[in-house]
Amino acid sequence: MCGIIGIVGDKPVAERLLDGLRRLEYRGYDSAGLAVLDDGKAARRRAAGKIKALESAFEADPVDAHIGIAHTRWATHGAPNETNAHPHRAGRVTVIHNGIIENFRELKDELHAKGRTFVTQTDSEAVAVLVDQAMDEGITPREAVQGALSRLEGAFALVFLFDGEDDLLIGARRGSPLVVGLGDGETYLGSDAMAVGPLTRRVIYLKEGDWAVATRAGATVYDEDNQEVTRPVALLEANQAVAAKGNHRHFMEKEIYEQPEVVARTLSAYVNEDLTISLRDGLDFSQFSRVLITACGTASFAGEIARYWFEQVAKLPVEVDIASEFRYREPALDTGALALFISQSGETADTLAALRYCKDAGLTTAALVNVPESSIAREADIVLPTLAGPEIGVASTKAFTCQLAALAALAVAAGAQRGALSKDEATAHARSLMHAPHLMNKALETETDIQAMAQELSRARDVLYLGRGVYFPLALEGALKLKEISYIHAEGYAAGELKHGPIALIEDGTPVIVIAPHDKLFDKTASNMQEVAARGARLVLISDEKGLKEAADLEPAGIAAPEADPLIAPIVYAVPVQLLAYHVAVEKGTDVDQPRNLAKSVTVE
Ligand code: G6P
Repeated sequence: MCGIIGIVGDKPVAERLLDGLRRLEYRGYDSAGLAVLDDGKAARRRAAGKIKALESAFEADPVDAHIGIAHTRWATHGAPNETNAHPHRAGRVTVIHNGIIENFRELKDELHAKGRTFVTQTDSEAVAVLVDQAMDEGITPREAVQGALSRLEGAFALVFLFDGEDDLLIGARRGSPLVVGLGDGETYLGSDAMAVGPLTRRVIYLKEGDWAVATRAGATVYDEDNQEVTRPVALLEANQAVAAKGNHRHFMEKEIYEQPEVVARTLSAYVNEDLTISLRDGLDFSQFSRVLITACGTASFAGEIARYWFEQVAKLPVEVDIASEFRYREPALDTGALALFISQSGETADTLAALRYCKDAGLTTAALVNVPESSIAREADIVLPTLAGPEIGVASTKAFTCQLAALAALAVAAGAQRGALSKDEATAHARSLMHAPHLMNKALETETDIQAMAQELSRARDVLYLGRGVYFPLALEGALKLKEISYIHAEGYAAGELKHGPIALIEDGTPVIVIAPHDKLFDKTASNMQEVAARGARLVLISDEKGLKEAADLEPAGIAAPEADPLIAPIVYAVPVQLLAYHVAVEKGTDVDQPRNLAKSVTVE
């Protein structure tokens, strides 16, 4: 969360900084700001709210230079107003920050005692004051930053700009990512590859604890012990640099439509032409007693669905934890277990902390991630990719289905390795997995029906989602999608659990969305539909033709998904579930790609 970009160059930077912020807005959009060196002194333009507000502030009072920094904020400490907007400034030092400085109160007290004052409620301002105070004591910017870094506790990515220094930016990372971009006579610093992508394809991913001195000529990198180090220069893939909506109204819609393709791409990383499955880094599930899956948000629901797969297909016990709870419940860990972490960004603070906890406990760790250069990918013993490409919509869609596709492949591989599946059974599962993209394409055809029912649903105050088996976590995901982008209160329940409480919520006309293909559990779920229909619920049934036909007497609003093999059906059914949330949100006129209060990548606890 929070987007960072800095340029030290040989041509004007302001427009390029604003452009960078537009690419980074998905990381946070509570406020935005930039600072450039105007006549040797940092001139800032800042505004509460989205980049558009900063653009207006900038147009009303333009300023430019060949060096500058910019930031888009997801607020942690201090209200999202202009005062608390980055960059923060103290004396000669201007800074942008992503993360949390945990000991900022202590630092502020110490600096107060030295006569320093603060104008914001942020933790970040303490860093600017700390560095400026050190420079007041007669040391160089480099020495001052080095000293300050040793005082900071917490997670951060920082970029500093100094008055009077038009060929110097200093960046530092601990806990939050930071990349250096190497241009032609220019150097860039950014919170991710997306920040610097269109400016250069040559990047250095700073390692944990690194800090970098950037000038027009390039960057010198130091490790956490302040030793100069050489980090490899990576070449960005062309698609990492570009994120455009194309013909779609929103990134979310575009990403929903990309799913058949990116799921196929992800599957190709696991399933060979002969329908055997290859796993990276010698991953062998027969060596593990169980799998512990840990993740946050949508990724945790992918983990919940995978639990059914691993247990049914590979007879391998699985536990699933929400990362923010995991280490605080002090789990009794079995060192024979595989700890599997699922994350789109690979930077979610709680998931990363859980990974470190398991590593310290001696478990083998594996990470299913969409960003191969991320912290989680770097720190895990085994890296399992999803190839969804950059996901910009804050509400996750294509990353989720790619996670599901990869997890289903892992479960089948585990089944084969553990002897729970015969060779023929494993091949049959792999074949149906490869069929998933085609069925997802067909599932996109549900859009017209979904669009037609979106208006009615957009008027609802509460919506319930019901599912059984793998469709229970998919119901949870459906409810999450709806509430995060349409702001309608929604809850997902296991269909059989409804009568133990939630059924009391049903009034005349309450929408109840049931996700139930015509499989071996259909009749049970159909009874639950009867129960809610009898109490006046407005039923929406996402099922196949057979299921819709059988439930016709309940007169549900039907969404006809294609018939699919049970292993891949949840991947296919995710498509109408996402489209439903999307169209209700569009109907309500909310900010679909950047829903209020949320951020794409949650790098704070
Ligand atoms: C945020 C995002 C969600 C995402 C969750 C976990 O809350 O808004 O869409 O599911 O973080 O993120 P990760 O990057 O670890 O998958």
